Amino acid sequence: MHRPASIAVTDQPALRAIGVSKAFVSGHLRTQVLDDLTLDIEAGELTLISGPSGCGKSTLLSILSGLQKIDSGSVQALGSELGQLDLRALERFRLEHTGFVFQGFNLFPALSAFEQVELPLNHMGLTRDEARRRARLSLEEVGLAHRMRLRPAELSGGEKQRVAIARALAKEPQLLFADEPTSALDAANGQMIIDLLHRIAVTHGTTVLCVSHDPRLVMHADRVLAMEDGHILSDRRPAAPAIDSHGTPS
Ligand SMILES: Nc1ncnc2c1ncn2[C@@H]1O[C@H](COP(=O)(O)OP(=O)(O)OP(=O)(O)O)[C@@H](O)[C@H]1O
Ligand SMILES: [Mg+2]
Repeated sequence: MHRPASIAVTDQPALRAIGVSKAFVSGHLRTQVLDDLTLDIEAGELTLISGPSGCGKSTLLSILSGLQKIDSGSVQALGSELGQLDLRALERFRLEHTGFVFQGFNLFPALSAFEQVELPLNHMGLTRDEARRRARLSLEEVGLAHRMRLRPAELSGGEKQRVAIARALAKEPQLLFADEPTSALDAANGQMIIDLLHRIAVTHGTTVLCVSHDPRLVMHADRVLAMEDGHILSDRRPAAPAIDSHGTPS
């Protein structure tokens, strides 16, 4: 029997990296950032990647989201082999299926919260009414319905990050990438942001991949990957015993 595409997608991990290597070369200096890394990220979960500065977390995120090319190996996202997509198809993939949240919020100073969220929806080709409806709903979902006419300068750090999350969420992406989304925030706001990301994974079935070295966030994740020197050191579910990179309990 022919199965609908949506079922085929849920049969496999949302993201899959197989034997991925990536090095940066500048002058005589060659930095091997990822070294034969293999990893599956399950759909509908919040996965946290932690590890020391410079170990390759942001590079891994940008590779899994199709922003950076790899030297060898393969990356599959939602069943597509990213290496086989041309630039245009990659751009389309990112626009339609991915959302991003960054440490520095990346908001436009001149736009209101509502306009920040609405803008990418217009690029996606939605009607103006549909874009507005989604923008309003997303801002409500992050608890900012009453602040949506304000500009970034009039919002707190936590509120700015919630606008950035609403902007990503309004696209209804299957993949949500967050790089250090809480590191510019105090503990209480950081907690609120990770709670929100977890809730998005649970209620929307979104695959959320979050980089952070904040140990306080660990208990909010379904799965925690510790990275070191370009490979996965341990892979654990906070409620379950840790498994090291050889598959043995650690
Ligand atoms: N575009 C680039 N050109 C050259 N080297 C790079 C580039 N991007 C990253 N690197 C190097 O790759 C290594 C990994 O960088 P990456 O940003 O992935 O680390 P990270 O784990 O995210 O660190 P942090 O926790 O500080 O954000 C670093 O040594 C960095 O200097
Ligand atoms: Mg980084």
